[in-house]
Amino acid sequence: MKLFIYATLLSLASAAAVEKRETVQQLANFPGFAENIALRHNGHILVTTLSTSSIHYLNAAGSNTTTLLQPIPGANGISGIVELEKDFFAVAAGIWNTTERRETNASVWTVDFRHTSPTHPTFKKVVDIPETTVLNGLTSIPGTSIVLGSDSAVGAIYAIDAKDRTYSIAIEDGALAPTGPTPNLGVNGIKVHDSKLYFSNSVTGVFGRFPISRSGEAIGPVETVTQFSGSVDSGIDDFAIDEEGNAYISFHPNTIFKVDSQGQQEVIVSGAQQIRDPTSVVLGWGRKGDKVLYASVNTLADPIIGGVDVVYL
Ligand SMILES: *[C@@H]1O[C@H](CO)[C@@H](O)[C@H](O)[C@H]1NC(C)=O
Ligand SMILES: *[C@@H]1O[C@H](CO)[C@@H](O)[C@H](O)[C@H]1NC(C)=O
Ligand SMILES: *[C@@H]1O[C@H](CO)[C@@H](O)[C@H](O)[C@H]1NC(C)=O
Repeated sequence: MKLFIYATLLSLASAAAVEKRETVQQLANFPGFAENIALRHNGHILVTTLSTSSIHYLNAAGSNTTTLLQPIPGANGISGIVELEKDFFAVAAGIWNTTERRETNASVWTVDFRHTSPTHPTFKKVVDIPETTVLNGLTSIPGTSIVLGSDSAVGAIYAIDAKDRTYSIAIEDGALAPTGPTPNLGVNGIKVHDSKLYFSNSVTGVFGRFPISRSGEAIGPVETVTQFSGSVDSGIDDFAIDEEGNAYISFHPNTIFKVDSQGQQEVIVSGAQQIRDPTSVVLGWGRKGDKVLYASVNTLADPIIGGVDVVYL
């Protein structure tokens, strides 16, 4: 997540380097701040925004207009989204103040497409988490009912049991915490790969990992995979990891990095002419079955225009 003041953004956008590496195409635009992205097995795309509690639904093979799913009650925005099993997702909803970069009334919901039409899934609240003020990225532990959620304000990882409807703090560590003044954001994106929890810390620029148990607790010390420059308005956001352990990391304002499991950084795409400001990415396949990244992106204008860009790898 990146929340910002409009004036700061314009200067960042115009300062960005123009560089062509990969083919990028705009798939959709919609009003609001695109925050996170997930993919269904049928190739349809789900995008969350902090400006509505409705998920934007996009059939990338069809028209470029998104459909709004039914709103989640008691919320005005959605941050993290993760697929728990085929056609069954979890999202983090809340009442956001984007100026303060903080929320109240955070809750985790499941979104079930298994027995419904594509645009009318069943929503169910799992838990309220009133203590958190920034429940940001979500991920899950394969083979369990545990959803992990990052708290960017205190630098913690919540473990939420989607079956038992309970939650607790599984990890709290300095490597996850923000530095500097509020409203800086610490841990942002999180993903589980190969029994490790990978994370991006937006303000410190650390991309790191913890070995974790099947219930989400750290069972060893943090390891820094690589270090980026970090600041309030530029730096790493959410990311995806492929089968080989390569991470595709969105970097504000206009870059996507690839980082291999040894920490080697590579620029995949960079420049305001190439890609809009990315908040998150998901790996998928294009119309010809080719490997692509779908990115939730924003155009730095007033009002902000959210959207989806596709990067052909
Ligand atoms: C979506 O399609 C319309 C009509 O074909 C076109 O005018 C518009 O530029 C497209 N938008 C994007 C983001 O591709
Ligand atoms: C948000 O939480 C407060 C405190 O628990 C509660 O009073 C309020 O009704 C909640 N707001 C919504 C929209 O659910
Ligand atoms: C959001 O926070 C700002 C700064 O504290 C405050 O001025 C504003 O009233 C808040 N907005 C809402 C909708 O609560």
